[in-house]
Amino acid sequence: MAGDRGGWGSAVPSEVRLVQVSDLHLGSTYFPTDASWRRVRAAIADLRPELLVCTGDLTDDGQPAAWCEVVATFSTLGIPWYWVPGNHDRLRKAPQSVGLGAWRLFLLNSTAPQSRQGEGAIGRSQLLWLQRALSRRREPWALLAWHHYPIGFAGDLAWLNEIALTDAEAVLAGLTDFPQIQGLMFGHGHRAVAAAWGPIPVWGCPATGYQVSLPSDPPSWQQPGFREWLLRPDGTLQTWVHRV
Ligand SMILES: [Fe+2]
Repeated sequence: MAGDRGGWGSAVPSEVRLVQVSDLHLGSTYFPTDASWRRVRAAIADLRPELLVCTGDLTDDGQPAAWCEVVATFSTLGIPWYWVPGNHDRLRKAPQSVGLGAWRLFLLNSTAPQSRQGEGAIGRSQLLWLQRALSRRREPWALLAWHHYPIGFAGDLAWLNEIALTDAEAVLAGLTDFPQIQGLMFGHGHRAVAAAWGPIPVWGCPATGYQVSLPSDPPSWQQPGFREWLLRPDGTLQTWVHRV
């Protein structure tokens, strides 16, 4: 699949600017997706990030026509892009990592083939793969990416907990020896999230299409959006949401 490129090479800037998009649901027959995805692409082109990461649900139903649209529209941006599958994509994908200067980005598959309603899991073999890769510590800092949120929601958003990451506790316990992990990016919730998963800061990305929003949210939270990330060589990072 296009976008699965290898290492970053020698052209790594000292500060890495990347854009995260999520939950495009291209090919949906229920929700319009194309117009807002076009606006997101225009905004990304203006930002000129070094890297684009999609945290799942690129397609609504995993059909070939939707994947063709994914490849065609991502490719026109001319930016290296990486992705993880979401529960709607109906596609398995091996974990992958990419070096970004002082950082290494780990992309994992959190979809579970036996999922009943869209919940996910990292699973033991992927956790072992991640632990082995983190142990090598090729770069001083690490950022994780997968589709499902590992945290719980309260109140009117509690229904989201039924489709969360089911093995979040075991995965977190398996990551305690790796303080280089500076954060996790995810999608799936179709809303902006900034929270803590134990000692690990986590951020959720709005969808490029339809949002999960509450009446108490700021009105802009109903608009499609994406996240911009700035990874600095000293291990600090900044991330913020753009709405289109
Ligand atoms: Fe989604």
